[in-house]
Amino acid sequence: MSNVVLLKSGLELIIQGEIAYFNYFWLRDNCETSWESSTQERTFDILAEADDLSPASVQVTDTFLEVIWCDGKQSRYALAWLKRWHQGENHGDLAVRTRQPWYADHYANMARFSYDEMMDAPNRVADWAEAMLDEGIALIQGMPNSETALQSLCEQFGVVRPSFSGYAFDVFSKAQPENLAYTSKALELHTDLPAEELAPGIQFLHCRTNDAEGGQSLFVDANAVATALQKSHPEYFRILTEYQVPFRYTTLRQDVRAKQRIIELDPINGEVSGINFSQHLADIFDFPQRDMDLFYPAFRKFGQMLQDPSYLMTFRLNAGECIVFDNHRIAHGRASYLEGSGARHLRGCYVDRGELRSAYRVLRAQHPVAADTIAWPQADEPGMAEVG
Ligand code: OGA
Ligand code: ZN
Repeated sequence: MSNVVLLKSGLELIIQGEIAYFNYFWLRDNCETSWESSTQERTFDILAEADDLSPASVQVTDTFLEVIWCDGKQSRYALAWLKRWHQGENHGDLAVRTRQPWYADHYANMARFSYDEMMDAPNRVADWAEAMLDEGIALIQGMPNSETALQSLCEQFGVVRPSFSGYAFDVFSKAQPENLAYTSKALELHTDLPAEELAPGIQFLHCRTNDAEGGQSLFVDANAVATALQKSHPEYFRILTEYQVPFRYTTLRQDVRAKQRIIELDPINGEVSGINFSQHLADIFDFPQRDMDLFYPAFRKFGQMLQDPSYLMTFRLNAGECIVFDNHRIAHGRASYLEGSGARHLRGCYVDRGELRSAYRVLRAQHPVAADTIAWPQADEPGMAEVG
């Protein structure tokens, strides 16, 4: 018996004893010659193919499925490559990693890198990106006290992502503050800018000066907290993953509004992927009043758990340090500081999380660590080749 069965819209193939089905359009669309070789963008036009696209003949060798299409074009697909797509392994993704929860005592173990090594050691940038994916936070030390250092650091991952505060923002106490951050008051635990349609991903806070008394930095792994909530209060967890909560930021020139879920889930594996939390930017909740009976207990419990000392990492951010953290995973805040006790100036900006993952895929593939198996190093290389 042939180990390929041709059906109306696709074929069945036996790969290592298992029946695998492949649609004809998908096969034709993903022939190696579909991609322009220098850009690796698809130039093949599946829309122009016949509605009844099908093979004239197929042949399976030890390692390849070879297809001759009705128009005479030929394609060849490595069986190992087909198996990956059949089993959902696809390209393989180095950036899909297991998040490592951390707790109040994390400061001593927090990943630390120097600004100088970030500027010329791409393998160390890969390590930094890995810490960001796994732990969601890292400290960069030895930052020059310059206008450009922060941007140079961000550019190791990607392009600075503007927000409604501009390309970068300066946090210091001002006479006419537009928001609470620009005072010496405490900032409750929060994630930044949930009032934006897509709240910023990776946040950088470069401490330029810190001579003030007080103003300790507060950080919490909100993923760890949300996962604990899921175990202890599954109903509260469900509510916080479902309700669309309004946030709002207003100045004389701005009225920015968006709805967010307090707890976000990773569509790939259903794990907690982040949170949106800010009492100072939460708008007036607009659910039906009876739903408030359900929502407030869940919201309050989660907020109280975030503040639990067992999760809360507290430290002083010193001049010359830049704390970099995943703004969707890590809740942050600061204690109040004594006005007039000394200058305090942080410069901040954001880079999207997608840029971090992209940089990590490229840098880690170029600088693998010994223990790493790169999932499919040759994923898109010789797997498919058009014959003839
Ligand atoms: C902010 C903020 C932290 C700090 O500006 O949103 O969280 O330590 N600042 O001032
Ligand atoms: Zn903030």
